[in-house]
Formats: sequence, C-alpha cells, structure tokens
Amino acid sequence: HPPSLFAGKKILITAGPTREALDPVRYISNHSSGKMGYAIAEAAQKMGAEVTLVSGPVSISPPANIELISVISAQEMHDAVMAHIQTQDIFIGCAAVADFRLTDIPTHKVKKKAGLLTLSFEQNPDILKTVAALSNPPFTLGFAAETHDVEAYAKGKLERKKLNMIAANDVSSSDLGFNSDRNALTVITKNNTISLPAASKYALAIELLKLLNNEYSANQNN
Ligand code: PMT
Repeated sequence: HPPSLFAGKKILITAGPTREALDPVRYISNHSSGKMGYAIAEAAQKMGAEVTLVSGPVSISPPANIELISVISAQEMHDAVMAHIQTQDIFIGCAAVADFRLTDIPTHKVKKKAGLLTLSFEQNPDILKTVAALSNPPFTLGFAAETHDVEAYAKGKLERKKLNMIAANDVSSSDLGFNSDRNALTVITKNNTISLPAASKYALAIELLKLLNNEYSANQNN
C-alpha cells in the first residue's frame, strides 16, 4: 500500500463493541470483535498516519505504533473520543456502540425472583453524530451495520448525521461482517456509491483508506 498517503495526518478510530452494565456482574453487548477497526488502524499507521484507537473490550492485540485507549461503555468511549478529537484530521467510527444503557445501574447483584424482570433503558450519546456536529469537525467516515435495505439505511445515516462518507456493512450473512475475518463494504459519499467486494478485513481497510484519501483530498481543495 502507498506508505505516505496519510503522512502528517492524525486519524482517530473507534473499534469493537461497548458493554453496558446491568449490575456489577452482568452486561449487554454485541458481536463486534474489533477486527475491522483494528485492521483500519494498522493500515492507516502503515500509510503514514498518526493513529489513536479508542477500543471497546476485545480479545485481539493492538497494532504496533498506535495510541490505544481502552474503554468499556459507550459513555466512556464518547468521553475518550471527545477528549482527543480537537486535534484530529479524520474520524472513523467503526465501533458497534450500544444505543441504550440502563437508566439506573443497581449497585448490588440483581437476585433471581419469580415473575418478569423489567428493565428501563435510556439513550447513549451518538459519538459519530456529536463529532460531525462540531463547529470545526474532522473529516468523518461512519459505518452502518444493517441486515436489510443496507444502502438506503446507510444513505439515510450519511445525510442525518452529516458525514463525509459511510461504509455500509451487510451483516445478514454470517461469513462476513461481525467477528469474521472477511468483510464486504458499500462506500457511499454525497455523489458516489462504490462497492468493495469481499476480502480480508486488512485488504479491505487499505481499499477503504484509499477511497477516503481521494474524498478527503478533494474536500481539502474545495
Ligand atoms: O468488529 P468486527 O467483528 O470486525 O465487525 C465490524 C463491524 C461489523 C462492527 C463494523 O464493520 C461496523 O459495521 N461497525 C458499525 C456497527 C454499528 O453499530 O453500526 P450502527 O449502524 O449502529 O451505527 C452507525 C454509526 O454510528 C457507526 O459508525 C457507529 O460507530 C456510530 N455510532 C453509533 C451509535 C452511537 N451511540 N455512537 C456512534 O458513534
């Protein structure tokens, strides 16, 4: 891959799942392994960028020569991103962030009892949307994991969250997307839709970053 495409550029990437506590010993989460975000972090670093990786709990090793910030919950991920975003040129939201958290987290382990257990949830902050709404935002690339109508939903997110680019991920097939070593993406910008066919997450990260660089450079010249 082109070694100096991102020379002098700072890129912040979120990766992995978040965990939302249900009590001191339980949580809800999702199937994100962090592989896609970590592959992007590794490729961006090798392409010359200074990379900050804000990661939820994963079991894979971080790439070399990047700054890793480990977090657990969506709120922690939000706070870590916001603490570092001002100096970034590019933000890539690859994490599968929990949309909701428990309204009140019990301080003691919840005991088994007869009948139904009802839990109440409130919304987590939308990290990507918050970053894109900054007064001087970095270039933003979001992801959209969908099981159906992938392109239409992704396009909606691109416009609603005011992003520069979105990578739509069809997660309806089990051999691509979440947790797998391979993925396929449909990359959508205001004027273009480009399909990146199934490949290893690292190979895909390189192709995605090349597209991002084209779009980023065109943006800088405007
Ligand atoms: O980690 P892997 O196993 O390799 O799998 C990769 C992946 C499938 C998780 C990844 O490619 C992917 O698609 N990530 C986004 C998953 C997702 O949660 O999408 P979403 O449609 O819910 O969110 C849309 C965008 O908003 C994403 O960029 C997400 O990071 C961001 N978001 C969402 C909610 C929130 N509270 N804050 C956010 O920043």
